[in-house]
Amino acid sequence: MLSVKIREADPSDVEDVMMLNRLTLPENYPAQFFYEIYSQFPKTFLVAKANGVVAGYIMLRMEKAYSILKVSTRAHVISVAVHPSYRRQGIGMALLVHASERAYKEYGAQEVYLEVRVTNAPAISLYKKLGFEIKGVNKRYYSDGEDAYVMEAAFPLLYTGQGQPF
Ligand code: COA
Repeated sequence: MLSVKIREADPSDVEDVMMLNRLTLPENYPAQFFYEIYSQFPKTFLVAKANGVVAGYIMLRMEKAYSILKVSTRAHVISVAVHPSYRRQGIGMALLVHASERAYKEYGAQEVYLEVRVTNAPAISLYKKLGFEIKGVNKRYYSDGEDAYVMEAAFPLLYTGQGQPF
C-alpha cells in the first residue's frame, strides 16, 4: 500500500523539490529562490514523502493586502506539483489543504490565492474542488505568453477526497 507522509520540508529536501519542479512544470526558479521561500515560510513549505521519496511539494508565500480599512495577510501558492507516478491519489489535494491550514494557523493568513495556466485543466479542476473561484485573468502572465487565471479561496479549504487526507 502507498504510504504517504506530508511534513515540513527540511533543508535536505530542497534539492529534490527543485528536481521535481523542473520535471513537472515549465516555471522553474534559481536555487536561491527556493531557499529564500524555505527560510521565510518554512511552515508552509511542505513535502509529500511516498515510500521515502519526495513525491510532491508545495510552497506558499505570505503577502500583505492593503485596503482602506485594514491590512490583511494573503497566502500565495507559489508552486505545487506531484510526481507523475503518484498522481490521482489525493496528494495534490492534501498538500493544498495542509499548507492552507498552516498559513491560517501559523501566519494568520485570511485567504489563499494562486495563478494557474488557463489550459491546465487538472490543476483547475483540483482547485475548484477545494472551493477556489476564478477572480480574474492575468493576460500573458507566463513567459511563453499564456494567460493565467487568478483563483482565490477563503479558509478553511474543504477536503473532499475519499478517506482521510494524508
Ligand atoms: N484531470 C482531471 N481532474 C483532475 C486531474 C486530471 N488529470 N488531476 C486532478 N484532478 C482533480 C480531480 O477532481 C481529483 O479528484 P479525483 O481523483 O477524485 O477525481 C482532484 O483534482 C484531486 O486530485 P489529486 O489526486 O489530489 O491531485 P494530484 O495529486 O494528481 O496533483 C496536480 C494534481 C495538478 C498537482 C498534478 O497534476 C501536477 O503536479 N501537475 C503538474 C504541475 C502543475 O500543474 N501544478 C499546478 C500549477 S498551478
